[in-house]
Amino acid sequence: MIAPAQRMSSIKPYVFAGLIQRKEQARAAGVDVIALDIGSPDLPPNEQIVNALVAAARHPNKHGYGGFTGTPAFRKAFADYYSRRFEIELHPEKEVLPLLGSKEGIYHMAFAYLNPGDVALVPDPGYPAYVGGALLAGAIPYPMPLRRERGWLPDFNAIPADVLSKARLMWLNYPNNPTTATAPLSFFEEVVAFCRRHHILLCHDNPYCDNGYDGYVAPSVLQVPGAKEIAVEFASLSKSHNMAGMRVGVLMGNAEVIKTVGTLKTNADSGPYLGIQEAAIAALSGDQAWRHAVQETYRERRDLIVHGLRALGCQVDVPQATIYVWAGIPAGFRNSAEWAEHLLAEKGIVVTPGTAFGEHGEGYVRISLGAPTERIKQALQRMSK
Ligand SMILES: Cc1ncc(COP(=O)(O)O)c(C=O)c1O
Repeated sequence: MIAPAQRMSSIKPYVFAGLIQRKEQARAAGVDVIALDIGSPDLPPNEQIVNALVAAARHPNKHGYGGFTGTPAFRKAFADYYSRRFEIELHPEKEVLPLLGSKEGIYHMAFAYLNPGDVALVPDPGYPAYVGGALLAGAIPYPMPLRRERGWLPDFNAIPADVLSKARLMWLNYPNNPTTATAPLSFFEEVVAFCRRHHILLCHDNPYCDNGYDGYVAPSVLQVPGAKEIAVEFASLSKSHNMAGMRVGVLMGNAEVIKTVGTLKTNADSGPYLGIQEAAIAALSGDQAWRHAVQETYRERRDLIVHGLRALGCQVDVPQATIYVWAGIPAGFRNSAEWAEHLLAEKGIVVTPGTAFGEHGEGYVRISLGAPTERIKQALQRMSK
C-alpha cells in the first residue's frame, strides 16, 4: 500500500477514539460499562433548539450550502451574545467566523499560523488538539506545565528565551479542561500584555464559559482592553447548550486572523448546515433558563463524585466550572494509567487518565459529568467496594 504522508507519523489516534474502542471491546465481552470519559453531554438541547433544527430540515430551500462564513443572522447572534454576556462589541462580518465545532477551528488555526519549526505554547495538561494541530503543521508544541500549587495557571517566566523567540501561538483554556481550574480576568490581562510583548498570537479556547457553578461567571479574554489586537477566542455550543453532535462554534476577535482562517476554511469546508445555524441562533437568542437546570444537574453529579472520591482517599478540588472532576489517584496505584486500567478491568468504569492530556496530567484522572446521575451513583458504589 502507498505510505501515508510523513506528517501522519507525528500523531497517534485521538485519545478518545482509542477509549471508544476499549469500551466497545468491554461491552462485547459482556461488561456493563459506565462511560465517564468523553465530555459529551448526555442531556438534550431544549425544545426551541430542536424545533429550529426540525423546521429547517423540513424547509425545501434549506438543504444547500450554508455559506462559508455562515448567514448574517448566525454571525449577529454570536456578536449579540458576546455583547450581552461579556459587554464585548464584535463586528459580525469581520470579527466572527463560524466553525464546525471548535476542534475543527483549532486544527485550522495551526495550519493558518504555524510554519515548520515554529513553536506553539500549549498548556500541559491540556486539550489534545492544541498539540495535534501543531504537530500536523510541522511545528513544535512546547508544554507550559499547569500545576495545582499555581492554581493550574502557567508560569510564563519559566519559558526559556530561545523558545519564546520561536513562539507564534499560545493556547489557553479557562475554565480549563481537564483540570477544571478557572482564571480571573486579571490573569487574562497579564497574558495579553505578555503576548503583546513577545509578539505571540493568543488563542483562548472558551467552550466552558457558561458551565459555571454556584454563581461563578467566567470571563472572556476579549474583555481585556486591546485584546483584539493580539487575541482570538473560540466559543462552542457543545457543552453550554448540549449541542456537541451538531458541531457548531465560532472564532471571534482579531479581524486579520478571522480573515486568514476564513480563507483557509473556504478551501477546506463549505460552512455549517443551515439547520444547525438556525438551531444555534435559537440557542443563543432564546430562553436560557433551561440551561440553569442542566447546570444544576451537573452540580449534583459533581458533588456526588467529589464526596464519593474523597471518601476513597482521593485528593479532589470542587470544580467551579466545566463538566468534569479532576481527581488525584488514590493510594496503592503507581500512576493515572494504572488506576484508569483498574477501573475499567475490575469495575467496568471508563475514565480518562490525566496523562492523555500531557505528562503533567500524571497523578490524576478526569471524570466526565456527562453521564446519567444514576450511572454515576452506580460507578461510585462499584468504586467503594
Ligand atoms: C477545551 C476544549 N476545546 C474544544 C473542545 C471541542 O469542542 P467542540 O465540540 O466545539 O469541537 C473541547 C471538547 O471537549 C474542549 O474541552
